[in-house]
Amino acid sequence: MVREEQLRLLNGLISHLDNKTNINAGGILKTPADTYISEERFEMEWSDFFLNHPQILGLSGDLPKPGTYVTTEDFGIPILAVRDEEGMFKAYANVCSHRGVTVESGSRGEKSKFSCPFHGWTFNNNGELVGYPKKDQFGEIDKDCYGLKQLPAKEKYGFLWVHPSSEGDIDLSELLGERLMEEFDSWDFESLIFANEETYSTDMNWKLAIDTFGETYHFSVLHKDSLFESFHGNCQMFDSFKRNGRLILCRRSIDEMRKLPESEWDICAGSLPVYYLFPNIIFMPTPEGAFLVKEYPAEESPHKSFSKISFYFYPHVLEQIEELEKSGVNAKQYLEEQYSGFASVIRDEDYVAAASSHKGLLSGNLDYLTFGKNEPALHHYHNTYREALGLQSLPLEKA
Ligand code: FES
Ligand SMILES: [Fe+2]
Repeated sequence: MVREEQLRLLNGLISHLDNKTNINAGGILKTPADTYISEERFEMEWSDFFLNHPQILGLSGDLPKPGTYVTTEDFGIPILAVRDEEGMFKAYANVCSHRGVTVESGSRGEKSKFSCPFHGWTFNNNGELVGYPKKDQFGEIDKDCYGLKQLPAKEKYGFLWVHPSSEGDIDLSELLGERLMEEFDSWDFESLIFANEETYSTDMNWKLAIDTFGETYHFSVLHKDSLFESFHGNCQMFDSFKRNGRLILCRRSIDEMRKLPESEWDICAGSLPVYYLFPNIIFMPTPEGAFLVKEYPAEESPHKSFSKISFYFYPHVLEQIEELEKSGVNAKQYLEEQYSGFASVIRDEDYVAAASSHKGLLSGNLDYLTFGKNEPALHHYHNTYREALGLQSLPLEKA
């Protein structure tokens, strides 16, 4: 993040702390219960936001070198993503051109040829059919007509985008806008190295999971024995970038950092930036690396979802860890436990509360959920969500 912006945000947090204020959206917003529980609404979301919208598949670090791959079926269709021998990121439908079987069933790894488990047709990481068994018995076919279907794929700023439809388009200026593109350009997400991924399944609408990342009003209550120890609750900065948003959470370490000259301040040391990337991504850079959270509906139902929480580290952090390990310190395990611990707070506290909200909504006793003046990220999220579905925006109400 550019220096001036880091200082603006950190000074904004400090000013809120000193004045006991918080960001103010100027009113409250009420989102109707059908946002979360309507089957009809869900059909619209599934089609517009998942089957027909560019998706962030992961980070560049998920494909660390030529000849690596990842697969996913998280947004409906089976996808095989690879880094080819030239280092290019490419994506294909993971669908065998012979009779449609999923070609690669591993989730990630190092492989540049993919052999279908049904009859053994084999494809390279350019998607070409390079061989099929018993050619004399099967018959002669034009291998050029039997490649894997290629999908639009783009790698930029350390993110991997894929479009689930071969006809789709990935336009980053349209998705992110110039300001966010410039901001992403100033980070170094390209160098992040994948460390771990965990999947949590929950009985709730996928947007309730996103809502939990949109405010810190709950920190002093829900997280009083966990995150509240390292974060000031009720203190944030928020900015929007087209349909995306960036919330800046206030780490308690800002109390020490502010005593240093501004030239030594760092956005990740004094805060936790939380990027929301439309439609379903939460991305949080940290001093050591980053968390990538992907929220998906499950079983094509508004009532079930799953989250994939991955974390990544910068190479220099891994080098320092290696040095520490050499001197007998169990540093890698310690760091991974810290990151897993953060992820388990999300699972055991945020998602438990969110699933409880979903149950409350299903009970029919609540007509709408309310977002306060201090929750502008959720105002922005719910109104851009509605705008994207062609629904009327929600009015700001006096409070
Ligand atoms: S379906 Fe893949 S080889 Fe037959
Ligand atoms: Fe939380």
